[in-house]
Amino acid sequence: MPAIRIPVMDLKPQVAPLREQILAAWAKALEQTAFCLGPEVEAFEQEFAQYCGAAHAIGVNSGTSALHVALAALGVGPGDEVLTTPYTFVATSWAVSYCGATPVFADIVPATFNLDPAAAEKALTRKTKAIIAVHLYGQPAQMDALCDLAKRKGLPLIEDAAQAHGAMFQGRRVGTFGTIGCFSFYPSKNLGACGEGGLCTTQDAALAAKLKLLRNHASSAPYRFDELGYNYRMENLQAAALRIKLPHLEGWNERRRAIAARYDELLKDTDVRTPAVGPERSHVYHLYVVRHRQRNALARHLEEAGIGTARHYPVPVHRQPAYAHLDIPEGAFPCAEQAARECLSLPMYPELSDAQVDEVAAAVKAWKP
Ligand SMILES: Cc1ncc(COP(=O)(O)O)c(C=O)c1O
Repeated sequence: MPAIRIPVMDLKPQVAPLREQILAAWAKALEQTAFCLGPEVEAFEQEFAQYCGAAHAIGVNSGTSALHVALAALGVGPGDEVLTTPYTFVATSWAVSYCGATPVFADIVPATFNLDPAAAEKALTRKTKAIIAVHLYGQPAQMDALCDLAKRKGLPLIEDAAQAHGAMFQGRRVGTFGTIGCFSFYPSKNLGACGEGGLCTTQDAALAAKLKLLRNHASSAPYRFDELGYNYRMENLQAAALRIKLPHLEGWNERRRAIAARYDELLKDTDVRTPAVGPERSHVYHLYVVRHRQRNALARHLEEAGIGTARHYPVPVHRQPAYAHLDIPEGAFPCAEQAARECLSLPMYPELSDAQVDEVAAAVKAWKP
């Protein structure tokens, strides 16, 4: 097998030009000797809240922690159900399970891979305590219908925006629609830390205070703990790096959109299905995901041509062994299951050159299924 010349994602060209700035910020943070939370975290929270248009931002140590602490702050616990999509990274569902609650799934809209609001409505029960919408691959979910559903049913709506920093629906940034927005700064995300990181956004001051309390052991005063808390503090060093990267996010997302448009154009007359963008959405292409019935053969062909690919996600959450106890049969969510069989992520990161995009597209076109 030839070496991969165009990887599916590459962080080196993003980090290299920022290296000196990040090292200088870390030197400053070392002098501050604030490591767990700290002044860089507070500054980053303000800057990220402003970027999103959210009233409050609460930094935590991962996207998974953001989702968990969000559900905990809303009082989700054993016996409750949380409705979400089965076609997501498993952490969306982990957060529900960490609370002792049960994830209940509804199928996706095949064109956008996001939670189908009509299916979600049908799956609600008297036990449903919250809804989690995921802005998968960087495309906002159908937020008007989902907000309307949550409002009609009196349920909190959480946005899993781990893949969608800066994406917009009707001109408004994700993370500002739901009761709480949850972001991941895992290094490969559109905005990535140099390690782990996450954040919750909210417009509600009382919820913001609760999230701040819970992420820091629920310590209301020195060595006083009125409820179960968590060590989910964001690290000062990570916030320092994120502050350097944040001003580049818009440019990086713009470049991702340009790469996606180039792929769309080059692949439009092939039988590989390119991603569709729903109306009134600004997609930030965390991933560029195409579909084909013979996805595995296409992946092998591209690998032989030195092009990296990935499968996001080959097994939907309800079919994972970890959720076997839910006893959800194959065929329960046919749209999610078909997507899991057909999806293939092509190389996508802002530093990809046009020539590299052309090379990937040419290799796709040269494939004879
Ligand atoms: C949709 C989604 N939700 C949640 C997470 C969890 O984020 P983290 O890896 O920062 O815990 C991720 C990413 O890994 C994700 O893609």
